[in-house]
Amino acid sequence: MRGLSEPERQRAAGMRHPKRRMEFIRGRSLLRRLLGRLMNMPPELVPLTTLPSGKPALEHPPGTLDLRFNLSHTVGMTLVATTFNADVGIDVEAHRHRIEPLRLAERFFSPAESATLLSLPSAQIRPAFFRLWVGKEAVVKALGGGIGMGLADFDLTVAMDQPLAMVATRWREVDAAKWTLRELDMPNNYAAAVAVARPHVAVHCWNWHEDK
Ligand SMILES: CC(C)(COP(=O)(O)OP(=O)(O)OC[C@H]1O[C@@H](n2cnc3c(N)ncnc32)[C@H](O)[C@@H]1OP(=O)(O)O)[C@@H](O)C(=O)NCCC(=O)NCCS
Repeated sequence: MRGLSEPERQRAAGMRHPKRRMEFIRGRSLLRRLLGRLMNMPPELVPLTTLPSGKPALEHPPGTLDLRFNLSHTVGMTLVATTFNADVGIDVEAHRHRIEPLRLAERFFSPAESATLLSLPSAQIRPAFFRLWVGKEAVVKALGGGIGMGLADFDLTVAMDQPLAMVATRWREVDAAKWTLRELDMPNNYAAAVAVARPHVAVHCWNWHEDK
């Protein structure tokens, strides 16, 4: 747990599931090393805090660079996205074969997204579902929300021949044109996406695979 803050060590110690604990420790030390490099400071001094939503963030004294980030992990993989002056969210998922895409889409996604997914040729349904899932998770993570935020309150593009993008939102204050979404190039059987709550914004993504 070298380089982790006292609250992070305590949080890790309180995690009962060993895999989740390892994932958390690995994620935080990678995150601290990366942010330390970008901010030109030792990893243990990176001023990480947790927002009331649970989203980790940097403490920003007035006048400093507004670097923002988000992190996601799945079996054997940790991804971090960074950007400036805009909220960012990232999500990675390993394709799970037990999952029933249409059933989950009907439960969590918007009626328009479910209907489009259902209309796709059957070989395209599973990859389109996972792309949609990571895209939607990236959006709610940018906003600092969990699944409780309502994945059905906005629509993304569904068909794989269209780039991932925000089509419509049913939130009053955030309109669809304000979003930058990007599907990330991943190894087979993984899907990942990043979302930024600003148009045409530069976003950097780092990917650590377990055997790197
Ligand atoms: C945080 C959340 C939005 C995403 O969790 P997840 O996809 O299970 O896990 P990820 O690995 O992508 O993200 C977890 C990381 O995001 C960050 N995070 C935690 N809370 C966050 C929040 N409110 N907003 C943004 N990021 C958050 C943390 O860095 C966390 O990792 P850590 O605890 O090891 O530091 C979670 O609250 C959630 O709602 N998960 C439900 C997922 C689901 O069932 N989707 C079904 C779609 S069909």
